[in-house]
Amino acid sequence: MTVVAYFLFTRAPWTASTLHHSSQDFPERPSVDPIFNIDLTMEDMMARMRYRGLPASLVRFRKYGSTYQLAKWFKPTIHTMDMINIQSVWGSRWNEWGIQPSRLPAMAPFCGKGFITTDGPVWQRSKALLAPSFRGSNKYIHESFQTAVTDFLDKLPSDGETVDLQPLFSLMFFKSAREFLLGAAALVKTDGSICPVSDAAFLEAFQGSMRGCGIRFMLGPLRFLVPKVLTFNHWRIVHQYMDFYVELALSNRATELSNQSDNGMTGNKPQKPQSLLQNLAHHTDEAVEIRHQLIQAMMAAQDTTAALMSNTLFLLARNQAILARLRDEVASINTSKCRVEELKSPRLLHNTFSESLRLYPIFTGLGRTALVDTILPNGGGPDRDQPVRVTAGTKLLANFYALHRNQDVFGLDVEEFRPDRWEQTHPNIWQYMPFGGGQRSCLGQQRARADATFLLVKILQTFGKIESRDDSGWAGDTRLTTWNANGCKVALFRK
Ligand code: HEM
Repeated sequence: MTVVAYFLFTRAPWTASTLHHSSQDFPERPSVDPIFNIDLTMEDMMARMRYRGLPASLVRFRKYGSTYQLAKWFKPTIHTMDMINIQSVWGSRWNEWGIQPSRLPAMAPFCGKGFITTDGPVWQRSKALLAPSFRGSNKYIHESFQTAVTDFLDKLPSDGETVDLQPLFSLMFFKSAREFLLGAAALVKTDGSICPVSDAAFLEAFQGSMRGCGIRFMLGPLRFLVPKVLTFNHWRIVHQYMDFYVELALSNRATELSNQSDNGMTGNKPQKPQSLLQNLAHHTDEAVEIRHQLIQAMMAAQDTTAALMSNTLFLLARNQAILARLRDEVASINTSKCRVEELKSPRLLHNTFSESLRLYPIFTGLGRTALVDTILPNGGGPDRDQPVRVTAGTKLLANFYALHRNQDVFGLDVEEFRPDRWEQTHPNIWQYMPFGGGQRSCLGQQRARADATFLLVKILQTFGKIESRDDSGWAGDTRLTTWNANGCKVALFRK
């Protein structure tokens, strides 16, 4: 009975479209279910599970326009790749849009309140807590990162055996992020106990958690349908791991503070940056709050640069001409000078990362929710060039995968990997947004670029030949960040 009523209701002529539609609205992606858009959610889920979600999103923009909406009973969800609307939401009207209404309910049980899940004062406070650690680490290639790179290169097969670099990059960046976030100091409690969760188990659970959060995020109010095996089971392991280190830091705080003041008296020697955990333990005794801040920092620092490296090697292994030019370019770079300013990014290398991030942005899309009644400046009306009124609670999803494929900005060959395009193409900050934009743009951008440059230079200087060992194309697997479902399978030959 309920099912029949539901279908009669949802197929009735007075759908949300007729209720909401006015001449100044955006074009609409039609749905047979104006309450929850279950049909569209299922269609998108299926495309996503087949790793076709991103190309399918491009087709929809071509079909409906640069900004279109999904009409739900109460509030539409707006999808956009229009620079003018993105500039308004991320730039001029940024404080009228927030992330908390959609992210916090989906992610709070995993990572609580922090800079990734909140707006306003809580976001500002979290950002202020993180900034000193990120600022300090932006000045040079961190020692822990250099050690992780050396270890990574030593362990790579170098005789042409096929290797998938994607999980290895992930592990390497995890190790360096762990040290940067948790510190290299004591990993054992005074009673001799060690963390009950291994690094490998943590990493697997962390990535599972990201995937689970991604699905919860996508399902919105239907998130309760996501089975626990995709969420709570992973979260529990991540929490156990973090809680061990938080407890350790809180109990060691007094000693660390006195060590720190000793370091402060060591004359001209530069102070070593503290770990984020040490900084946090300095500011609060709240173990759960510290755990959540750490998980959110780990989300930002670990997954992202690893995905950039994996995508870039995937592309380079298929473009031997670029690889050869890059090898020449970096041959004389001295990587022992590891201050970020000293490791000046060579031009082609810089363009290579820009192009990799254009084709495969790590965050293929980001969302915002209108916190107040506001307007979007473009895309409404019969000619799709009028402003549209938007009421508080409306969700907007900006699609950077599509934004970076705008032929008016990047040329007709947008699907090509062509780093040299960056010699002529100079998109403005709202046409190319791999690191977001405006007030909430990436705090780690400089560090990510520097680490990636350092690692790629080392790889190019170590291996004389890098060949692709996989004919499949890039297939976007969107967790919270987007990865290639086919990994990065290559053969490496040491010089
Ligand atoms: C290739 C690597 C990276 C990419 C593509 C990337 C991308 C982004 C993007 C798109 C945002 C904006 C999120 C939003 O608007 O909701 C962001 C924010 C942020 N990123 Fe990154 N990121 C990278 C690496 C890093 C690293 C290594 C760190 C830390 C060491 C970091 C720290 C942050 C922080 C703290 C924020 C939040 C800033 C705020 O809320 O004000 N990111 N990142």
